[in-house]
Amino acid sequence: MTDTPRTFGQQLGRRSWAEPWKIKMVEPLVMTERPDRERALREAGHNTFLLRSRDVYIDLLTDSGTSAMSDRQWAGMMLGDEAYAGSENFFHLEDAIQRYYGYRHLVPTHQGRGAEHLLSRTVIRPGQYVPGNMYFTTTRLHQEMAGGIFTDVIVDEAHDPTHPGDFKGNVDLAKLDALLARVGAAGIAYVSLAATVNMAGGQPVSMANVRALRAWCDRHGVKLYLDATRAVENAFFIQEREAGYADRPVAAILKEFCSYTDGAWMSAKKDSLVNIGGWVAVNDFPLFEELRNLVVVFEGLHTYGGLAGRDMEAMAIGIAESVQDAHMRSRIGQVRYLGSLLQQWGIPMMEPIGGHAIFLDARRFYPQLAQDAFPAQTLAAELYLDSGIRAMERGIVSAGRDPRTGDHHRPQLELTRLTIPRRVYTQAHMDVIAESVKAVYDARERVRGLRMTYEPKYLRFFQARFEAL
Ligand code: F0G
Repeated sequence: MTDTPRTFGQQLGRRSWAEPWKIKMVEPLVMTERPDRERALREAGHNTFLLRSRDVYIDLLTDSGTSAMSDRQWAGMMLGDEAYAGSENFFHLEDAIQRYYGYRHLVPTHQGRGAEHLLSRTVIRPGQYVPGNMYFTTTRLHQEMAGGIFTDVIVDEAHDPTHPGDFKGNVDLAKLDALLARVGAAGIAYVSLAATVNMAGGQPVSMANVRALRAWCDRHGVKLYLDATRAVENAFFIQEREAGYADRPVAAILKEFCSYTDGAWMSAKKDSLVNIGGWVAVNDFPLFEELRNLVVVFEGLHTYGGLAGRDMEAMAIGIAESVQDAHMRSRIGQVRYLGSLLQQWGIPMMEPIGGHAIFLDARRFYPQLAQDAFPAQTLAAELYLDSGIRAMERGIVSAGRDPRTGDHHRPQLELTRLTIPRRVYTQAHMDVIAESVKAVYDARERVRGLRMTYEPKYLRFFQARFEAL
């Protein structure tokens, strides 16, 4: 007898999973030819952020604001209460934050960095340190612009793409102790905890770690604020990996996790399944009063924070959808499906596979390139040339420069991120992506890298330009 074809699930010795939704509306993709891509990449200065989306086939630049909304969210858009003050949609959103994240006081913002700005300005005194579990680009910049000094306190293994570990996003409490011994509690603005950790490959933080952090902060009178951008994905990993959580719903795990923190900021463009939006929420009323006052200066009145009423409604509904176990299983299952194809072919990546993306390890992909030749930027460019797939650099370009010395930050991780939008692409797209990565990998030896020709002052990765070496 001939071999019968096997599904992916059967190949893994189990029953397959499928998306817990069906498609009601489609958006045609643009197929491009190689000469067009060569021209587009040249015009974009080899920076995938500068490509026009009409020149992109499958867009894996980011999972931010790129999700597909549900029919219920779209219906909610029609219920926008576009009042300048006291919009009904604000109260729906406030209710969703209190119910699912558990914080008392909500200030909406136009997106995550709006919230980072408000919180950083409010709680950092110039010269104070801000320890965090690996930097994030906009988070660190707002902390620095408020006069803070970011200090990385993530566990060492987070910087090693080959190191196994269930919770590579954890904070190393010994590093916090060392900082405390050096600068004292008054020298620490707060502990900045991200879950999951974007720049570490979407790696999660354990419940045990956040609980220990809470105790550490109570002991020393330090506040603990959470970057909740992908905290629902983090809750999924706790359910999957941490003893005692297998039978608890993602929603309950999320709420417990948040309960150990004093407040959070959020880019709702990720977990919450909306195209725009963010918030900062805290339990402390005097701090809330300050945030509520400041939001009026930079974003808009405290009942809309730069959002339309319909955006807040879509977010309130998206939050409830985002904490469903079936949603999270398929969301992370799709990322893993792509990752497992690449693993079969021995393609180097950040392991274990994290929540929102596959992070290709450009150092091992292009061992012939020095970090100054921008291996991860190069890999993103090569992938685009091969197939029109758009990825993003997360290495030395993203890391920027040390504001005190002016030198490049030189992160150990030099990664190219294939970020998976939520509910947007199918398993067949994942196959196409994997085959393109394989083709670029097979052609890796002839690649020579890039030279930066234009460098903006802030968040340079967004707008920098390059030339092929
Ligand atoms: N925190 C994290 C962990 C993020 O990933 C982002 C954005 C922000 C804060 C800022 O939020 O974009 O709404 O202002 N990350 C996007 C990304 C840009 O592609 O990873 P924002």
